[in-house]
Amino acid sequence: MNINTIAEFALATAREAGELIIRERAQGLEHDYKDGQELVTQADLKADRLIGDAIRARFPDHRILSEEAMPDLRQAQELEQPLWIIDPIDGTVNYAYGHDQVAISIAYAEKGRVQTGVVHAPFQQETFRASRGQGAFLNDSAIAPTGCTNLRQSLVATGFPYRKDQLAPIIRRLDKVLHHCRDIRRNGSAALDICWVAAGRLDTYYESVSPWDFAAARLIALEAGAMAGHFSDVPEGYPEDLWGQDILISTPGLYQGMRALLTS
Ligand code: IPD
Ligand code: CA
Ligand code: CA
Repeated sequence: MNINTIAEFALATAREAGELIIRERAQGLEHDYKDGQELVTQADLKADRLIGDAIRARFPDHRILSEEAMPDLRQAQELEQPLWIIDPIDGTVNYAYGHDQVAISIAYAEKGRVQTGVVHAPFQQETFRASRGQGAFLNDSAIAPTGCTNLRQSLVATGFPYRKDQLAPIIRRLDKVLHHCRDIRRNGSAALDICWVAAGRLDTYYESVSPWDFAAARLIALEAGAMAGHFSDVPEGYPEDLWGQDILISTPGLYQGMRALLTS
């Protein structure tokens, strides 16, 4: 099937999920916890179901990797059938606290390579999207990263895991970044952090996250002209587009300097 048809479907589905999560928050949220610590709302589950149902109805033989309903990460390594990678709400803590930095992320991959992706921020009415080889857009305007080349003048985004037992290396890196860069932002949505690098609102982003957090946004950043990679090795044979450990996404002029800083 034509990639533009798939991209249009992803966009329409993300917008529908966006309306759902706006409605749900207006009505009052019910919270729960995954693994005793990670916040999840009824809206996360409902949006995941809405997107999954839409994909199954339209593309019955495609596979789905989604944070709430189908989080089996082994899917990322199966290359046979096309794979959809979904975060129904990226920025759940923001969502639950009434902040607007929240997005629905939908990516579509063939043989481990993301072909099209949409990151829709319904409260901000901003939709980032890209298809491979066709550039990246915010609403209907083409986007590009900043031209920053000086680490000292760079605005860096990152995030922190919910688990608190492995913070030491993260704090060490944070210390280096704070000493060598302009400032840091912890905005609470990895997908939007990466799209904001793509759109020139941040210079660079690094973190360890899951495929649903970044699969769509990474393609958007690459198509906008940013660089994307990792500051540690990707296991042999694992699709790079879906490996979330130690990812670095940056305006090109800072990529090598940032990588050196993070591995120093
Ligand atoms: C989280 C956000 C956050 C990042 C966390 C993610 P969620 O996703 O993207 O910015 O720092 O690692 O888990 O839980 O809100 O979908
Ligand atoms: Ca997420
Ligand atoms: Ca989520």
